[in-house]
Formats: sequence, structure tokens, C-alpha cells
Amino acid sequence: KSVVLSGCQPSGQLSLGNYIGAIRRWVDMQDSHDCLFMLVNLHAITVRQDAQKLRDATLDGLALYLACGLDPKRSTIFVQSQVPEHAQLAWVLNCYTQMGELNRMTQFKDKSQRHASNINAGLFTYPTLMAADILLYQANEVPVGDDQKQHLELARDIAYRFNTLYGDIFTTPEPMIPKVGARIMSLQDPDKKMSKSDDNENNYIALLEDPKRIAKKIKRAVTDSDEQARIYFDQKEKPGVSNLLSMLSCATGQSIDSLVPQYEDKMYGHLKKDVAEAVVAMLEPIQQRFAQLRGDRDYLDQVMKASAEAASARAAETLSKVYEAVGFVAKP
Ligand code: TYM
Repeated sequence: KSVVLSGCQPSGQLSLGNYIGAIRRWVDMQDSHDCLFMLVNLHAITVRQDAQKLRDATLDGLALYLACGLDPKRSTIFVQSQVPEHAQLAWVLNCYTQMGELNRMTQFKDKSQRHASNINAGLFTYPTLMAADILLYQANEVPVGDDQKQHLELARDIAYRFNTLYGDIFTTPEPMIPKVGARIMSLQDPDKKMSKSDDNENNYIALLEDPKRIAKKIKRAVTDSDEQARIYFDQKEKPGVSNLLSMLSCATGQSIDSLVPQYEDKMYGHLKKDVAEAVVAMLEPIQQRFAQLRGDRDYLDQVMKASAEAASARAAETLSKVYEAVGFVAKP
């Protein structure tokens, strides 16, 4: 089976963007692929986090993964910090990644603008840790949203470079980016990405948010002002309406092409009402399962323990090949 690996940062409550761009698609790959899914808390601390909030968000994230349908019997679902090989490989890869390459990462540029008082070295080398996550398991496919594409390209470059120097050590991973929903946009500012760390709460929908609030946020979403308030898909000219259509398509499983004609002579309000209903209907069962799972700490501990052990055993194989290749003396 082809190996799949992906993850989300527990740097806040997981968002509708995380679900549509990533998690939703992971769920469907579990039978056909050999899947590993993580909560990347090492990545999360590249931005200052409150310790207790980070711990809670990690456990929430785990329970949410399970509530969304990730199944620990079929997939390895783990917390990144519990598998030490990630940090170990990341160090090695840091020594095989150029400053210039990291400097070109658009996410680093964005984040260092937003967090100007804390541009730490971890924020800069974030993509090498992500490369380590992927290369440790010899992942073939990495299902992510559009914003991770550049990081994936760097992971591929690092793998290629390493293999050229040392022989076949790493599998070169392929990004898997969905056709619809790869970039869910902010509700109030549809020219930028929906992000769980947005300062304005009205910009994003958290997966655990109260359904009434979700509906309210969607109904207040910014739409586009052109002469006739027509509903069609055009991300440049109509970013707000196109974003709503993408969400509706993902929540109902209907293609955008089949949705657009249904709104031929309808108003924005109709579309928003339908989007709100569809999103709430999609999230409500997840929220119910979450409430049950989050209360069962023993079960979550059991999942974390078994998965971290399984992940670590696999990761250790790659790490020892790497250590050997670069010339580290094996532990006697
Ligand atoms: P993160 O936590 O920002 O996002 C997790 C996943 O959700 C996707 N995503 C979105 N998709 C569509 N629309 C949006 N508005 C939206 N916002 C987020 C992201 O593309 C991502 O797939 N660096 C990664 C985490 C990571 C990782 C990895 C991913 C660490 N190591 C190894 C894959 C493989 C990140 O910050 O994702």
C-alpha cells in the first residue's frame, strides 16, 4: 500500500479549512492506503503558545481526528512530540537545507510579518521539520491544502539532494491537493486564507463552534459587490461567492458546476442560508462524537501510546539509515 502522511498544528481549534482541505480527505484514504496522521505540536511552538492551551488543543485535536472518522485501528494517529525521531531527523536535514531555500518560503515571510516580535530560528526551519515528518515514513503521498505546496516542494528537493549524496534513502513524496476546497478563504476577507490563528473570529469557522454561531458567521460573510448580484464561480472576480460555493460543494458532495445553475435567479441570501445549513449538517455529527471521545481520557491515552510506539518503530528504521549514511557511529 502507498504510504500517506499528513498533519495539522494544534495551534488553536481546528478550522473548517483544515477539515475541508485536509482531514475530510484523509478519512477516505484509510482503506486503500497505509496512513499516518499527526498533531504537529513541535511545529505549533514556532509561534508562542500558552502551555495549558497547547495541551488542551492537542487533546481536542486528537478527539476531533477520531470524531471526523480517522480510525486508530486502520491508521496510525499520533502526537509529533511523542515520537522523538521527528526532531532527530529534522536536525540532520537542517544541515542539508540552505538558508536561501528557507528564505524563499512564503509562509515564513507571512508569519514573520505577523509575529515580528518573535521571528525565532524554529519558525525559519519549520519546513525542514515538516520534511522530516514526511521522509521518516517514506511517505508516497501527502494530502494537504494549497498553502503547503511550497513546503512539499522543499521536502522533495531535500529528499532528492540527500539521495544524490548517499543513495536511495528517502522516497520522494507527492503532494495531493484537492480540486475543490484546497483553499477555503476568510469569511470577512475572502482574498486571504481562512486560518485558525486569525485575530478576527468572524473570519473563520472552528469545527467545534456552536452551530448557531456558525450559521451567523456564514450569513454575515462578505459577498461581492458587482452590478447584478449574480451567483457564479470566479475566484478572482467573485472571491466571496466562490468561497461559499466551494464550501457548499464540499459539504454536500455536489459539484460546483451542478450547484451554480440552481442559483440562477436567486440572491446571495439564499446561497448563504444553504451553505450555513449544509456546513452545520456536516459538523453536527462530528461535534456529537467529539463530546463523547474528549471525555474519555483513558481511551485517548491508549490511542496515543499505541500509535506513538508504532510510529516510532517505523521512524527509527529510516533514522538509522540516515545516521549511518552521514557517518554517525552506531550506538554499541
Ligand atoms: P496547518 O495546521 O496550517 O493546516 C493543516 C492542513 O489544513 C490545510 N488547510 C487548509 N486547507 C484549505 N483551506 C484552508 N483555509 C486551510 N487552512 C489549512 C493545510 O493545507 C494542511 O493540509 N505545516 C503543516 C502541518 C504539517 C504537515 C507535516 C502537513 C507539519 N508536518 C507533514 C503534511 C505533512 C501546517 O501548518 O498545516
